[in-house]
Amino acid sequence: MTHTAFTLGTPRDMAKRVFIKTYGCQMNVYDSARMTDLLASQGFLAAETARDADLVVLNTCHIREKAAEKVYSELGMISRLKEAKARRGGRMIVAVAGCVAQAESAEVVRRAPCVDLVIGPQSYHRLPELIARALKGGGAAILDTSFPVVPKFDYLSKAKAPRGVTAFLTVQEGCDKFCSFCVVPYTRGAEYSRPVVQILAEASNFVRGGVREITLLGQNVNAYHGEGPDGKEWRLGALIRGLAELPDLERIRYTTSHPRDVDHELIDAHREVPKLMPSLHLPVQSGSDRILALMNRRHTVGDYRLVVERLRTARPDLALSTDLIVGHPGERDDDFQATLDFVEEIRFAQAFSFKYSPRPGTPAASASGQVPEAAKSERLAALQLLTAKQQREFNEACVGRELLVLLERPGRHEGQLVGRSPYLQSVHVAAAGELIGQIVPALISGASASSLSGSVTKVVRL
Ligand code: 5AD
Ligand code: SF4
Repeated sequence: MTHTAFTLGTPRDMAKRVFIKTYGCQMNVYDSARMTDLLASQGFLAAETARDADLVVLNTCHIREKAAEKVYSELGMISRLKEAKARRGGRMIVAVAGCVAQAESAEVVRRAPCVDLVIGPQSYHRLPELIARALKGGGAAILDTSFPVVPKFDYLSKAKAPRGVTAFLTVQEGCDKFCSFCVVPYTRGAEYSRPVVQILAEASNFVRGGVREITLLGQNVNAYHGEGPDGKEWRLGALIRGLAELPDLERIRYTTSHPRDVDHELIDAHREVPKLMPSLHLPVQSGSDRILALMNRRHTVGDYRLVVERLRTARPDLALSTDLIVGHPGERDDDFQATLDFVEEIRFAQAFSFKYSPRPGTPAASASGQVPEAAKSERLAALQLLTAKQQREFNEACVGRELLVLLERPGRHEGQLVGRSPYLQSVHVAAAGELIGQIVPALISGASASSLSGSVTKVVRL
């Protein structure tokens, strides 16, 4: 480890400590892990809390107003920690990364002057250099929210293997769909797919480090179209088949998908690749064609229904989850009723639903027909009643079945482990710690709103 590049007010022989707090989606979780690796190579150890840290990074989310506002209240607290540290003669560097950084740039520093560094999602490989500049600089904040030509992945994919049983692997970033309500095309930029060889190398590295399940990530992951080793373009189905050949990789998942980009290769992969787990997150957003058109979703209710039919034919036990928005501008009671009816028809194993939140710069934010807050709340409550019922029913239908569970970590109680079923449900079982990382059959005896419990019937291998 080298300790020469930075002096953060701690004696030279003491390690510098970094605290990274992650908000929002799994892409941020992946990015935070890569930042942790990069900073570890620069001599930073992980701090337990922001109070103990020389460098605090908030990896932020801008998807809804509430998510962005959370960051500013956290920065208020961090500002007080930073001042307290300065009074003790120390120094704390505060960095804001992620989508709030990208979307608000200088505004972040204006609202939170304690921030030293604002860094967008495409610039993380430059973190060490920017921290060094922040330390040398006269206190003026540094902003880096460019979209560099050389993708950050070229630098960050030499990642140290993670130690967990499951890992995220970003294969695609950005989005060209421009749904009316969504900031992603602005914060994450244009759609970019990583080359297959790079992904396979990173996946092998993960597997060598003990990872048994990889979730491929992308804002629009099934729009993946990376360069294959044969020089041809590979779509997601082909990438999944390539990954399935890694001997010690047991499970593959991917998220988040767009209904329009579910192609026959992907459907065939669901039918033919046993390592591809039977769970799929496929946001529909609304059950009304009128609203889907206003949302610029580029699919109808009928298109979604057809895709689901084809997927369920290929993989009858597929557990489908979705995202739904209530109160998009223009949404009337009959549109909302259509959403309830469509959720009834499709039956989701899980659904995430949100009140529409206007995002600056997106077309829907300035559209006419904004829905009053009270109507949004009422619709959300009604929708969540239905989706919670469907989730409970899906879980209850697993009771009495034997499911293969990948054991991931200790549970809250002594002697208990928690893992995941093929359908992504958390499963609690009584089992010894050595079984972490193994797939075991478990007889499911209990179901709650969000998880299952059961007992291991047979240990396959130790
Ligand atoms: N308001 C409410 N929900 C939103 N989402 C994205 N943008 C908004 C917004 N402006 C939801 C969508 C998306 C999920 C990640 O967040 O349902 O699929
Ligand atoms: Fe946002 Fe997804 Fe639409 Fe892209 S496809 S604009 S990420 S909601």
